[in-house]
Amino acid sequence: MQFGVCYYPEQWPEHRWDTDAQLMAEMGLGLVRVGEFAWSSYEPARNQFTFEWLDRVLETFAQHGLRVVLGTPTATPPVWLARERPDILSVGPDGRRRAYGSRRHTCTTSAAYRQEATRIVAELLQRYGHHPAIMAWQVDNEMGNHDSARCWCDECQTAFSAWLAARFGSIDALNDAWGTAFWSMTYPDFEAVRLPVPTMTSHHPALRLAHAKFASDQSIAFLRLQFAQIRAVVPEGVAITTNFYSEDTAVDQRAAARLSGLAAMDNYPQGPQDPMTTAYHLDLTRWAGGLDGSAWIMEQQAGPINWTEKNPQVPDGQVRVWAWQAALHGYDAVLFFRWRASRFAQEMYHSGLLRHDGSPTGAFAEIRAAIAEIATVDLDAPKPSVALLQSYKDVWAIEINPHRAGLTHRSMQLDAYVAARRLGLDVAVVDSMDDLSDFEWVLAPALHITTPERISALTKALDAGANVVLGPRAMVMNRENAWSDVALPAGMTDLLGARVVETLSQTADVRVDPWGTKAGVWTDVFEVDDAEVIATYSGGTYLDGRPAAVRRANLYYAGFSNVASWTRLLAGLTGREPRPRHVETFARGDRVYSIDHKALTVDIHGVDAAFEAP
Ligand code: GAL
Repeated sequence: MQFGVCYYPEQWPEHRWDTDAQLMAEMGLGLVRVGEFAWSSYEPARNQFTFEWLDRVLETFAQHGLRVVLGTPTATPPVWLARERPDILSVGPDGRRRAYGSRRHTCTTSAAYRQEATRIVAELLQRYGHHPAIMAWQVDNEMGNHDSARCWCDECQTAFSAWLAARFGSIDALNDAWGTAFWSMTYPDFEAVRLPVPTMTSHHPALRLAHAKFASDQSIAFLRLQFAQIRAVVPEGVAITTNFYSEDTAVDQRAAARLSGLAAMDNYPQGPQDPMTTAYHLDLTRWAGGLDGSAWIMEQQAGPINWTEKNPQVPDGQVRVWAWQAALHGYDAVLFFRWRASRFAQEMYHSGLLRHDGSPTGAFAEIRAAIAEIATVDLDAPKPSVALLQSYKDVWAIEINPHRAGLTHRSMQLDAYVAARRLGLDVAVVDSMDDLSDFEWVLAPALHITTPERISALTKALDAGANVVLGPRAMVMNRENAWSDVALPAGMTDLLGARVVETLSQTADVRVDPWGTKAGVWTDVFEVDDAEVIATYSGGTYLDGRPAAVRRANLYYAGFSNVASWTRLLAGLTGREPRPRHVETFARGDRVYSIDHKALTVDIHGVDAAFEAP
């Protein structure tokens, strides 16, 4: 495992680079990321390149034995370019072009922007494509962050019409698939299908899902251009990746990670402020590149940040625990953000490993200690026994139509994820199209969309002996976000021996017996033909005594959406005892590690016999 740091040499006088590099090497860091926002320092005016400073930066780091991750600077086009070619800028749903002055204000569809991105990347490759100090390239930075993935410019409109035409072939096919006769929305041609802008009341869910997919596809196409451009030049061992902020869902992170097999995420636990949510994100990116893929944390919070509501302090010991958490979740590299606190611009209140005056923060010492500790242990991990199914199409479909306030795709995912983790099980968050055959458990708490491919993937997993657990509203929508016309869960009712007949937004305090736990806000109601009832509803509504969870052979369906109910369900099925929610346990090498996220401790034991329930 390697550790590194994010650095902005263009922000600091040159005499600092050498002492900084020396300090980095001394504290055990081996990697340094530079350059991902430096376009105006590379090219202050069109075709006037000033790469000499970067030559010296690379030379300086190399002298201290540091390897470099070089960013392509396309998240921040320079002001001169935005003025010269305003068609690189994206347009909001209000029809206004986004202003320069910040970052991510570009349109990934824009031909001008793709051309300019290709041009600057070609310049970088020509100069640094074979530079021995560079061990990886980071393409762009946090695609989709700041709500930037979706754009309403004329080029996006034209491309969207073409995308739909390629998908449906004829406008009649689209009208049929989307059911546009409702509210008289029958489209006469593809040009009439406008990108969704605010309307009097809700927009069509099929159009919105198509738009979400289209926008993600455009971002992936933009990334693909750079991945291919870099791959064609750099030596084989040089890695290529792109980093996602863990909370962003508008771009299919898995599709991006599969461009190279190396996934990367930016981990700011104080964004979601819940260690289990962080753990979920870690296990999502960890497997995004495929079951054989690998993952890095390209930016790891290392002290207070500047962009949440309150930006609280980070207690002593926390940064060390975050480093351990990354290591135990199987990351190959962690780069801390950022080396020095910035004296200028938007992120002055963001901490660094060094303060504004260059003195080290508490995190500096913690990171140095964590690097030394983690280097001594064997983190060899067995393949996770649990696959938790996730796909961006389900994320978008549920986001578009949650049926009620307060329910999110992620909260449903966490119901099953937290349950599995509390039982000490390692979880790989994967797509239903990944190879599920080796998993003991396949959990699908939010598998909203049904497709023939999904049905056959689940059937195959069942045939291979996996226990498959579906969650509420499983497989209710078809791929166009239209309700399925067969019994639910679509395609699985024969195997289940039961069907879902009502999908309720629950407002009563419905409980699940025998555990007395809450049912949550989505509760499904079943009719059972030939299935075992393993839990029932109670709480004084008409649901009392009706099945809450059913099973036939190794296929299960949980009709509830609550983490305590999922925990009791999985505890019963696996025969394991849940640990407290703030404790994560990992069997690695010949040891068991426990992270206590409240006490901020990492305990290491020999193999823990208490792991299995008596
Ligand atoms: C990330 C971003 C970095 C920096 C950081 C601050 O989202 O990639 O450039 O802004 O947040 O926490």
